[in-house]
Amino acid sequence: MAASKFELPARGKISPVELQKKLPKNADALVVSVFRTQDSANENGIEILDTDWLSGGQLREVVEGLQTVKATGKANEITRLPAPKKLGVDVVIAVGLGAQDKLDDEVLRRAAGTVSRAVKDLNSVAVALSGDRDRLAAIVEGLILGGYAYPGIRGSKDEGATQPDEKKNHADKDPAEFTVLGDPKKDSDVFRLAQVGAESVCLARDFVNVPSSHKFPESYAEFIRGFAEDAGLKVEILDEKQLEKDGFGGILAVGQGSVRPPRLVRLHHSPRKAKKKVALVGKGITFDTGGISLKPGAGMGEMIMDMGGSAAVVAATVAAAKLGLNVELTTTVPLAENMPSGNAIRPGDVITHYGGITSEILNTDAEGRIVLADAIARASEDKPDYLVETATLTGHQMLALGKKTYGVMGSDELRDRIAELGRRVGEKAWAMALLEEHEEAIKTPAADIRNISEDRWGGMQFAGTYLSQFVGEGIEWAHLDIAGPAWAASASGYTAQRATGVPVRTLVAWLDEIAS
Ligand code: BES
Ligand code: MN
Ligand code: ZN
Repeated sequence: MAASKFELPARGKISPVELQKKLPKNADALVVSVFRTQDSANENGIEILDTDWLSGGQLREVVEGLQTVKATGKANEITRLPAPKKLGVDVVIAVGLGAQDKLDDEVLRRAAGTVSRAVKDLNSVAVALSGDRDRLAAIVEGLILGGYAYPGIRGSKDEGATQPDEKKNHADKDPAEFTVLGDPKKDSDVFRLAQVGAESVCLARDFVNVPSSHKFPESYAEFIRGFAEDAGLKVEILDEKQLEKDGFGGILAVGQGSVRPPRLVRLHHSPRKAKKKVALVGKGITFDTGGISLKPGAGMGEMIMDMGGSAAVVAATVAAAKLGLNVELTTTVPLAENMPSGNAIRPGDVITHYGGITSEILNTDAEGRIVLADAIARASEDKPDYLVETATLTGHQMLALGKKTYGVMGSDELRDRIAELGRRVGEKAWAMALLEEHEEAIKTPAADIRNISEDRWGGMQFAGTYLSQFVGEGIEWAHLDIAGPAWAASASGYTAQRATGVPVRTLVAWLDEIAS
């Protein structure tokens, strides 16, 4: 990477993961799965499958050990036992997977994530969870994603400076390296897709976790440039002068209240024989105070994550380049800091978006749609077949769907496809209708459209209708509102505390599908 004035101040460490046929000689532990069974012939209530790695005698010893400590096999239960002699490791770690007939990718992904967080004291861990090719991706994703933890920006390594539970989490130690036991000859393609996808999620998390003291349009654009160029992407950064020249009135309007001027970043991945052309767009508000329509103070610090959409599309684009996906991909991210000041936009102002549509700004806290409108209009000029955009756009998303399920709006087919893929990869998603009445509600005597409706009902969908005005004719599009799912108050399964990296894996799965 070329030296830059701006580099990420802190990154979470990523566990190295390998796919191998044999138990490595230096492994500290072997992870096996335990199911809970209702089988009356099996009075233990637990059962171990995929036991190629344990001889009959060793298996019996492990099951007895589990019974002694009253392991139940319930999902995500972790039990450590001294390993049977001659196994070649010190410890057996049993992870519960629940009832066998309820096993799916997400159960496995969460269990692998829980394992990853539970073995931070070890150096080398072999994982014998399932030899099944279909389940391999979930294991790899869980191990990588579950082990990620944001380390914070710290001046000293002494205990006083660390959080109470962090010592226990071994924040300073390198995370364990994993050897997933399987068949590299057969399954290296599945393995690589999962690994690159999960590492890209971690990149998105790293971007989102950076506080806005260190992350503003200029610095964030340079963070992006570094990772994008390393992956072989072409990078274009428009500064405030170029934005002015090209008429990006929405991005400039939101950015004008801050002393740290806005940027527009464009990334290009152009394989030679791609059949489909895709545009990705993501909201990049590096901090959202609300502007003159100031937000209440409580919880405002979380608004460092208001660039989560941009982080996700950038990370998915880096993944597409690393995987060499056969799709022509251009990613457009508008970056601005939404601040109140003597130079900020006012409620009632009318702005002219890129492409010419005018908008009456009645609430400066509905700023995401304003910057996205310009970016979507610009992306549409390239005449892509598909345009997928994602944003931490509305609090209404959480009112409608909660903190863990994102809303998908847009063209019927693409919307439903994305929602389905999201659920498949464990990034819960639900299709939401755009509302006919909002076509009226968006009208105003003062300009072409207004940026908020007169009432608050269906606020997530109103934002979707606003964005739809800027999508070019004939382009299939989808809008993913990730306001809740982009951030987690606490860690669980393979989800880290703080930034989650949603919906990177949905996007990578979809791009992989389009490319094949
Ligand atoms: N960035 C916020 C949405 C948000 C809120 C994301 C909480 C994550 C957590 C967005 O810019 C915003 O402020 N939206 C307003 C829109 C309203 C003024 C129409 C909202 O949802 O309250
Ligand atoms: Mn806002
Ligand atoms: Zn916002």
